[in-house]
Amino acid sequence: MIPESFIQELLNRVDIVDVIDKSVPLKKAGANYSACCPFHNEKSPSFTVSPTKQFYHCFGCGAHGTALGFLMEYAGLSFVEAVHELAKNVGMIVPQETRDPEKAPQKTVVGLQESLQQAANFYKSELKKSERAIAYLKARGLSGTIAAKFQIGYAPAGWQNLQTVFPNYENEALTVAGLVVTNEQGKRYDRFRDRIMFPIHDQKGRVIGFGGRVINPEDTPKYYNSPETPLFQKGHELYGLFVARRAIRDAGRVLVVEGYMDVVALAQYGIEYAVAALGTATTPFHITKLMRQTDEIVFSFDGDNAGRTAAWRAAMNALPALSDGLKLRFLFLPKEHDPDSYVREFGKEAFEREMQNAMPLSQYIIQHLSEDNPLQSQEDKVKFLNDAEPILKQISAPRFALLLRKRVAELAQVSAQEMQSMLKLPAPNKIAPKAAARQMRSPVSIKKRFVLMLLMQPQLAKPEHLAFAQTSHEEDTMLKVVVEAALSQPQSKPATLLHSIAPNIDARLLNEIQRELHLLDETLDIALEFSGACTQLRDMMEDVRDNHLLNLLKEKPLALLTDEERALLKKLTVKR
Ligand code: UTP
Ligand code: MN
Repeated sequence: MIPESFIQELLNRVDIVDVIDKSVPLKKAGANYSACCPFHNEKSPSFTVSPTKQFYHCFGCGAHGTALGFLMEYAGLSFVEAVHELAKNVGMIVPQETRDPEKAPQKTVVGLQESLQQAANFYKSELKKSERAIAYLKARGLSGTIAAKFQIGYAPAGWQNLQTVFPNYENEALTVAGLVVTNEQGKRYDRFRDRIMFPIHDQKGRVIGFGGRVINPEDTPKYYNSPETPLFQKGHELYGLFVARRAIRDAGRVLVVEGYMDVVALAQYGIEYAVAALGTATTPFHITKLMRQTDEIVFSFDGDNAGRTAAWRAAMNALPALSDGLKLRFLFLPKEHDPDSYVREFGKEAFEREMQNAMPLSQYIIQHLSEDNPLQSQEDKVKFLNDAEPILKQISAPRFALLLRKRVAELAQVSAQEMQSMLKLPAPNKIAPKAAARQMRSPVSIKKRFVLMLLMQPQLAKPEHLAFAQTSHEEDTMLKVVVEAALSQPQSKPATLLHSIAPNIDARLLNEIQRELHLLDETLDIALEFSGACTQLRDMMEDVRDNHLLNLLKEKPLALLTDEERALLKKLTVKR
């Protein structure tokens, strides 16, 4: 476990604006910063970052959190990874979490990353020394700049070259990282030999694996890739995404291709927003990852039959991830071409023109379903509906689903109702409520308001405020916890305080408080409002106490009351 005090100190030191601005360029907007939300598709910015509260919040989709939360959501980091990442940014050292040997895997993961990076550096320096490798890349039209941009390298021929980088060649981490292979006799040797090396980066630019291409055309396999490791899962990663990130945002779209060389050659010709799935089908995970970056995805696979099969699989895998705002299109190149050869022969403009005319997903689906189906006989139509059924069932994007159903029904010459009764399709999701509707709020209770103000200005807390919490209700518990936190860390920022109280209060309330915190006007004179709230709460507290007293007094027979009690009773009754 990382000590809680460290996390608080960390959150106090980092500035969420810097953290987010690195990935999502922010614009100043009044007291806050804003951008188009990276967590949903939108055209006008509803994502705001508050420097005073150290929170981000999206008014469109409701995403919110601290700098830690952002790294987890955006970069897909675990909590511990996010803490390490933030700490690195501000030069803090995360205290040793535990001496428990069971935690050792955490260490090996770090070891893996380092070994991969060292190997990448080695391959890069070897490329400079190999005229043959350089000549190969030149012959494929790549400049030194592009090779450097993708950190392309060369693994020399020979069995144990990596020994020069890793004197401890026996280290198990090298096997786990996929750099070294052990044969049946227990002999260890380099996995990649005499290959052009394409490092694969994660979204943060860390090397997590490699693809290696042969230089001799007769060698096999043509490409050899890193195995799946704790750092590298093929179905999750996209080659080139880290390098392409900026260009994807600038272009407003991403181009998904099949091969390493397609990505690199496209970049060479000025199309820098291409990525490749790593020799696997495009997975729903890939699509979701890309949808975080942009709302337009164009697939362009090779013109051959394998490419066409890959395109259809990508289309089918995209279905569950579809949203109405997403534009998915398919670019089919002539049979003899892949994106690499096409852009080389016809250039950037021709390629981008082709992209403009790429086939929308709905049209592709219809075309594919009716390709070998003349839709003439009764049987043809039944087959068509049967083929369409599993596809329609997977789409939950409401408008897309409706339009596609309509088109399918038309082609099968049945009415929408007839199709519905034949296929028993689930009701398409109701159109998502508008962001504005979700923002409608009920007024905040005085206790919540009090808590919000203390989070903004903890130095206002006084020990006597603890008395405002009179019951064990969730709201009172929260109030008590917040007063205590504010008293013990009066200099903390709201995000830090909220983080430290989070484990001790009701999750639903915490959420509500976080949301309200964003809506709180920063220019408000909190000190003034705060003293008003204290007066109200004190009155409420006294009321409760008096009521209690009154009930006690009323229970006693009048004759038994002392003079003092009688006077009190009179006073309390008048007050009611
Ligand atoms: P391609 O054969 O289309 O690769 O395979 P390419 O990138 O166009 O290669 P060049 O132009 O001949 O150099 C597409 C992708 O399939 C995977 C690789 O990820 C490759 O980029 N693949 C292909 C392998 O993993 N192993 C292979 O032997 C071949
Ligand atoms: Mn190729």
